[in-house]
Amino acid sequence: MKERTDILDKLLSVRLTRRQACRVSGLLGLSLSTFGPFWRKAFAKEERKSFKGKLRMNLPSPMPDGNMSVAEAIKQRRTIRSFMNRALSLQQFSKILWAAQGITERGGFKRAAPSGGALYPADVYAVVGNKGVADLTPGVYRYDCSDHSTEKIVDGDRRTEVADASVKQMWMATAPVLFVVTVQYSRITTKYGDRGIRYALIEVGHIGQNIFLQCQASGLAAGIVGAFHDNKVARVINAPRNHEPLVIMPVGWKA
Ligand SMILES: Cc1cc2nc3c(=O)[nH]c(=O)nc-3n(C[C@H](O)[C@H](O)[C@H](O)COP(=O)(O)O)c2cc1C
Repeated sequence: MKERTDILDKLLSVRLTRRQACRVSGLLGLSLSTFGPFWRKAFAKEERKSFKGKLRMNLPSPMPDGNMSVAEAIKQRRTIRSFMNRALSLQQFSKILWAAQGITERGGFKRAAPSGGALYPADVYAVVGNKGVADLTPGVYRYDCSDHSTEKIVDGDRRTEVADASVKQMWMATAPVLFVVTVQYSRITTKYGDRGIRYALIEVGHIGQNIFLQCQASGLAAGIVGAFHDNKVARVINAPRNHEPLVIMPVGWKA
């Protein structure tokens, strides 16, 4: 560090004539315009590799569906707070994300849950525990409905941190997966003003019920949690600024 500061001091103390200064700045400009595009490309490639290549994963198709009727799923649904130590299959995981926010029209953009003005202010994250989902390493995954894929954005089993941030409801950490639904209000308030907040809350209610019923139809059970510190949960799942977690749904096999 000291060596670097010495070199910097020396460079700053060099006095150039006006002509020398022009030459140096000309050379710097030339090298930036020549190599700049290469550097930009190299960095962009690196970014694609780390986010799309290594960490991004296409999910299996959510079809075919099971054969439980909607009425039966509604009748059986209960908030469950105790889970077996057993992983979800990747297919079950895929179906839950699809039921929450999957695109449900061919070639279109409309999703499983209704949205005021079809503006879709919500995002879904999955906090996957150790051996929580077959073929997935523990971490926080963000769902991308545009191509039904997930992207791992945080490494490691974070369930205890989420449970701790949920006013220490530690039973949550026994569920193999915690689905977190967040909202970026600006996506909808830009059009509807303050009323957009009401629309976003209603939408998250629909998403939550879709998760509940899909779990029921897949032989799984779910809980729902609203008591948590927003900032702490947002930090654990690495949500962008102004994305507020609204609901957490622990999911697994009923104990
Ligand atoms: C918005 C909302 C927030 C909730 N928050 C919690 C919570 O923090 N912890 C919890 O154990 N249950 C929570 N619940 C679950 C309720 O206690 C449960 O839905 C209620 O007892 C009715 O039972 P049922 O869902 O089995 O029909 C919440 C439910 C809703 C709809």
